[in-house]
Amino acid sequence: MKKVKMVISTAVIITVITAAYLTASPVTLTATNEYNVLNKELLASQTKAGGNMTVRRLSKRSFVYAGEGATQKQQLAFWTGFSLFRDPWVTAPSATKDRDGLGPLFNARSCIACHQAGARAGMSETGESLPTALTIRLGFNKPNMNHENNVYGGQVQPRVTKFVHGQHNNSPNSEAWLKLSYSPVNGQFSDGEVYQLQKPSYELTRLGYGELPEHIFPSPRFAPNIFGAGLLDAISDNDLLAQEDSKDINNDGISAKYNRVPNVKNGDIEIGRFGLKAKHPNLAQQVAAAFRDDIGITNSYFPMESCTKKQILCQQASELGGHKSVEIPDKLLDLVISFNGLLGVPPARSLSQPKKQQGQKLFHQLGCVQCHIPSYTTDKNYHVPALSGQTIWPYTDLALHDMGEGLADGVYEFKATGSEWRTPPLWGIGLQKTITGQQRFLHDGRARTITEAILWHGGEAKTAQEKFKQLTKDQRQALLMFLKSI
Ligand code: HEC
Ligand code: HEC
Repeated sequence: MKKVKMVISTAVIITVITAAYLTASPVTLTATNEYNVLNKELLASQTKAGGNMTVRRLSKRSFVYAGEGATQKQQLAFWTGFSLFRDPWVTAPSATKDRDGLGPLFNARSCIACHQAGARAGMSETGESLPTALTIRLGFNKPNMNHENNVYGGQVQPRVTKFVHGQHNNSPNSEAWLKLSYSPVNGQFSDGEVYQLQKPSYELTRLGYGELPEHIFPSPRFAPNIFGAGLLDAISDNDLLAQEDSKDINNDGISAKYNRVPNVKNGDIEIGRFGLKAKHPNLAQQVAAAFRDDIGITNSYFPMESCTKKQILCQQASELGGHKSVEIPDKLLDLVISFNGLLGVPPARSLSQPKKQQGQKLFHQLGCVQCHIPSYTTDKNYHVPALSGQTIWPYTDLALHDMGEGLADGVYEFKATGSEWRTPPLWGIGLQKTITGQQRFLHDGRARTITEAILWHGGEAKTAQEKFKQLTKDQRQALLMFLKSI
C-alpha cells in the first residue's frame, strides 16, 4: 500500500495535540497513524479529490464541468469537445461533414447516450431489448486468440444505419439483441440481517450472422463513470508498477497485476489502464476506440470500420460515406480527448463528520485500501500541465484482481483472465443517484446499491467481503457514509 505522507501545520498541532508535543518540527503522518488526529490539511486535500482538477461547485445535474485548474483556452476546447461528445452522429454522406460517418454497425449515436452526464446511463431493462449502456463485448475463454473466424468481431453492435444508395438499399443485419434476466441470491450478515443479491444471466437473441463460434462468450460491460480519467492517465507508470505484486510475494492474498496491452499508434506493449479489464494503455486510445467500436466513427488510431471480413454488406455500406480518409479527423478527436481529460472530479463532502471518519477507518481496517489505493500525486512531467503534479484521491490501483467465480465473465482480454477485473475508481460514486436518477454498480451494473457491490466481492477480495459481513449495522452505515462522500 502507498503511504500517504502529509505534514501537519503548527496551527493544527496546537488545536489537537497537547503542548508537550510542541517541539516545532513538523510531524509526518503515515497510513497507520493518520486517522488518530483530525488533520485539516489532509482533509482539505481529500476534499479536493481531483487536486486542482476538482470542480469548483458540486452540481446536482451533471458531472460535466472542467476541473477548476483548466485555463481559458482549455475551457474552450472542453466545451467544443463536449458538443462532439453530446450531439448525435449521423449517417454519411450528409450536409454536416463534421459529424457524419455513423455506423454501418453501431451501439449508440453519441458518447453521452452511454455516459449520461459523464457518468453511467440507464441500465437495460430485464427481458429482450436492444442494449445501449450495457455493452456486450465478445471474447475467448482462452488467452491469445484472435477474432479471425468470428463474424461478429470483438463487440456486439445491435444497431445499423439504413442505406438507400443506388443498388445498395440493403442494410447490413443488426448483430443481436440482448435478453437479460436475474435470479436471486440470498445471504445474511453476521448480525442476522438478511439480504438478496441479483445474479444476471445473458442471452444473445436474433443473432444476425448465425450462432456464435465455439469458445466465444459474451462479456457484459456497463458504461463506467468517466470523470477524472485525465488524472488517471497522468499517474506515472512507475507509481503503478511499484504496486505490482502479481505473484503475491508480500503474501497478503492480493496480487496486483497490470494488464499489458498494445499501444496501437507505436506498437509498444504498455500497462493497461482504461476499460473494465484495462484494455487500453492511455485515455486517447480509449476515446478513439469508443468512437470506432461504439459509434462506428473511424479515426487515425482505428482507421478500419468494425465490420469483419464476413460482414459483406457492412463493408459495402462503409464505402458509401464519401470520407476520403477517416471519419473524425485528429483535430476534432483531440477536442474530445481534451474534453474527457479535463472532465473534473466532484469534491468530497463533509469528511470531517465523526461517522464518516469512522467509516474511513473501517475502509482501511477491512483491507479495501489494498486495491482501492486512496491517493497519488500525478506525474510532474505529464503532457497536460493542468493535470500534472496533482494530489488526487481516486481509490484505485488500476490493477487487475481475481474477483472470484461470482463476478467472472470467463473472457480473456490480453493478460486479464476470465475472473479478473480492474479496480474501478470510487470517487463520486455516491452522487450517481442525485445526478442521473439511477445507480448501478460493478462491471455489468448488477449491483443496485454500494452494499450489494461490496457483497459481490470474492476471489482476492473475499477476506474484505467477509469482514464487511461481520460489521454491525452501525459500522456498515459508517462505511457507506464515507463511500458516499468521497
Ligand atoms: C454504447 C455505449 C458507449 C458509448 C457510445 C461510449 N462508451 Fe465509453 N464506455 C462504454 C463501456 C461499456 C466502457 C467499458 C469498456 C470496456 O470495458 O472495454 C466504456 C469505457 C470508457 C472509458 C474508460 C473509463 C475507464 O475508467 O476505464 C472512457 C474514458 C470512455 N468510455 C469514454 C467514451 C467516449 C469519449 C465516448 C464517445 C466517443 C464513449 N465513451 C462512447 C460504453 C460506451
Ligand atoms: C482484491 C481487490 C479489492 C478489494 C480488497 C476490494 N475491492 Fe472493491 N472492487 C475491486 C474490483 C476489481 C472491483 C470491480 C469488480 C467488478 O466490476 O466486477 C471493485 C468494485 C467495487 C465497487 C463498485 C464500484 C463501481 O463503481 O461499480 C465498490 C463500491 C467497492 N469495490 C468497494 C469496496 C470496499 C468497500 C471494499 C472493502 C470492504 C473493497 N471494495 C475491497 C477490487 C477490490
